[in-house]
Amino acid sequence: MKILVTGGAGFIGSHIAEACLRRGDEVIIIDNLTSGHRRNMASFIRDIQFVEGDVRDRKLLGICASGCDIVYHQAAIVSVPYSIEHPRETHDVNIVGTFNVLEAARDAKARRVVFACSAAVYGEDPELPKHEGMSALPISPYGLEKLTGEHYAKIFHALYGLETVSLRYFNVFGPRQDPKSPYSGVISIFVDRLLDGEMPTIFGDGEQCRDFVFVENVVQANLLAGSAPKAAGRSYNIGLGERTTLNQLVEMMGRLEGRPFAARYEAARPGDIRASFADISRARKELDYGPSVSVEEGLRRLLAYARSLRGA
Ligand SMILES: NC(=O)c1ccc[n+]([C@@H]2O[C@H](COP(=O)([O-])OP(=O)(O)OC[C@H]3O[C@@H](n4cnc5c(N)ncnc54)[C@H](O)[C@@H]3O)[C@@H](O)[C@H]2O)c1
Repeated sequence: MKILVTGGAGFIGSHIAEACLRRGDEVIIIDNLTSGHRRNMASFIRDIQFVEGDVRDRKLLGICASGCDIVYHQAAIVSVPYSIEHPRETHDVNIVGTFNVLEAARDAKARRVVFACSAAVYGEDPELPKHEGMSALPISPYGLEKLTGEHYAKIFHALYGLETVSLRYFNVFGPRQDPKSPYSGVISIFVDRLLDGEMPTIFGDGEQCRDFVFVENVVQANLLAGSAPKAAGRSYNIGLGERTTLNQLVEMMGRLEGRPFAARYEAARPGDIRASFADISRARKELDYGPSVSVEEGLRRLLAYARSLRGA
């Protein structure tokens, strides 16, 4: 199969591209390297076609999508705070860019587009666990942009027959997530602190919880979503289906590293959501998704990776 991965120089996209290569696909990546890096593709760049380009460039996307069977659309500006500061820019990349990807895939007669959506679509609704049937009321431009992308994906399926699947990722973590970005995931920042021998900062009492999901599970979900017969036009939560508090994370990391690791606590940040975790039963049933890597095992692998980078 021929596969296009948008955002394939990024954290999740590079793992999807690698997994597609492993199963024998031909892979093209388009990425403008705003938050992605060539180093994320270092181990396989010779085996793919890399196009340094922007999903806002419709013409270029048409060329990239030509002859492709599946498009994994990961490219985005991935930050709630950045979307609040720069809503026009994130609108252009996350909505217009997604529209371009869908239109290019339709025109190129691709079979399916798998869209990286987000748990941010759920907003502040306190209902737990989050399930796809509940109302999505995002509270940030980023959340709204992801929800709009999802609606466009559904419309393209209903009107033009393009098979589209939206995956609402929860808090993904793993190797290649950039700890230096101010907008990065909490786990990659904590790992950096741990290996630097510094204390992590927790805003609030640390009892806030998230559904942390190791990237290998998310890759599995994407590969399944590329072919599951009942998935076209549907949305799925992709998490582990478990809640982990920040205090539990810190405790686990210290234990895995075999040294004390205590957090510094600061005032909770206004607008931070207290609790979020996924009901993944729809993905289990319709995609046959079964996350196999626990938070602790994922942390173990991430720590080994981060240590090896420092050793190198
Ligand atoms: N990491 C998470 O926990 C998480 C959670 C929910 C959803 N997501 C979604 O998953 C996808 C991948 O996220 P990630 O964590 O790998 O982030 P990432 O920043 O590592 O990857 C995004 C990639 O998109 C590229 N990109 C950005 N703007 C672009 C543009 N205009 N044209 C082409 N490429 C562009 C970046 O350079 C980067 O390589 C995103 O769509 C994100 O919204 C991620």
